[in-house]
Amino acid sequence: MESKKAFAVAFSLQILSLVSSLDRSQFPPHFLFGTATSSFQIEGAYLEGNKGLSNWDVFSHIYGHINDGSNADIADDHYHRYLEDIELMHSLGVNAYRFSISWSRILPRGRFGDVNPVGVAFYNSLIDALVSKGIQPFVTLNHFDVPHELEVRYGAWLSPEIKKDFAYFAEVCFREFGDRVKFWTTFNEPNLMIKFGYIIGRYPPGRCSKPFGNCGLGNSSLEPYIVAHNILLSHAITVGIYRSKYQAKQGGSIGIVISTIWYEPLTNTTADHLAAQRARSFENAWFLDPLFFGDYPSEMREILASSLPTFTSEEKKLLQNKLDFIGINHYMALYVKDCMFSSCALDGYNGNALVFATGERNGIPIGEQTGMPRAYVVPDGIEKAVTYMKQRYNNTPMYITENGYAQQINSSITVNKLIDDVERAKYIHDYLASLSSAIREGADVRGYFVWSLMDNFEWLFGYTLRFGLHYVDFKTQERIPKLSARWYKNFLEGSNLRT
Ligand code: NOJ
Repeated sequence: MESKKAFAVAFSLQILSLVSSLDRSQFPPHFLFGTATSSFQIEGAYLEGNKGLSNWDVFSHIYGHINDGSNADIADDHYHRYLEDIELMHSLGVNAYRFSISWSRILPRGRFGDVNPVGVAFYNSLIDALVSKGIQPFVTLNHFDVPHELEVRYGAWLSPEIKKDFAYFAEVCFREFGDRVKFWTTFNEPNLMIKFGYIIGRYPPGRCSKPFGNCGLGNSSLEPYIVAHNILLSHAITVGIYRSKYQAKQGGSIGIVISTIWYEPLTNTTADHLAAQRARSFENAWFLDPLFFGDYPSEMREILASSLPTFTSEEKKLLQNKLDFIGINHYMALYVKDCMFSSCALDGYNGNALVFATGERNGIPIGEQTGMPRAYVVPDGIEKAVTYMKQRYNNTPMYITENGYAQQINSSITVNKLIDDVERAKYIHDYLASLSSAIREGADVRGYFVWSLMDNFEWLFGYTLRFGLHYVDFKTQERIPKLSARWYKNFLEGSNLRT
């Protein structure tokens, strides 16, 4: 049985190898190849080591918030198994690892309490172990989870108070870890966090905004934009601190990570082309334009008018040129239809841009559907997204901080099927091939991280979506490399796709 399985896996890899000319040597010599995770999704140990509660700890414990009724109290138990997990990475042959630092582990009560030495010690051990294996730590300061205390005290991101807390937290991290961490990002996908947390109410703090949701909390159309404003200013202040006090001494760089959907016009009409542009502005330029040019994109100002907060001239100066690199998380490509000149159903994902986004044109999907809603396999999307960034932001260095394939769990899916994930291996292969084409055309892309090292807690989907290169048995915490892990390893060894 085992040998039959091994043969099937080897056979699938062989087939991939026959049709591919993709090779690691097509990427620049110092290119970072890694895997990505985030603290809340893997660490578990939610009350250990003097950690404080985060907003996600509290939210996920409330009945009805997580689709499968689960939580991340244990998740992958990475807090206790990080050395084993670093071994997995070492065996893959990656030279970088993207992870996040749990704010409530470092500062259980935000700046209203002390730095937690046990939390600092955990990340020191993690970072030391990575460095000793030749794996570059690529650190996210905020990957959705915030100390619950800040939510209770002043409404976290809704209040300008958060700027002080975030900068304080970031500085603790620069001071404690910056001697070994050369890549920092302030925020992971603030654009997506806002949609889910403040427009459709599916992430904490579970608030909705008109006209897209009515979930009892929130319901002012201003909130998403106030939150973005506070996040942008927090980013700019923090980068200012890093640059003035740490960067020269520590020699690192700092960026932000944006969820980057590629929007393709549904039809060839000017209206749909403009709609796609608008959708990109509301999605990416919303955060990136202020951090390059000091203000929101003009499309947003025109449509949102006074709902969009304004920056003072000092704030504009503070915001400009605050990115050493752009982190791109890419999972989706969708068609976009104009809703400014014709009426259509707006939704909370992109309705504010007066567009309707869909995965289908004339009943034909844009690509094969993956396990995640709205995520189709469209390898070209990554090349187009990177090229858009290259053109709009003067080819600022870019890292693909996430890209990956979801398997959806249902009652008929077997463990063998999950492990024999030829679809994921092919997905990563095809996206890398498309990325290498963007690089050949001059895009300054410097790294690529597969989401994820291992199956983990997928936010509102709980454990029903699996993104890992490693299968995790959540009862025993056993990790098993999937076929995609073997593929990635072979690719990284420079042996193309051969087994
Ligand atoms: C992006 C998020 O950063 C990550 O936390 C999430 O698990 C993946 N997308 C997959 O949805």
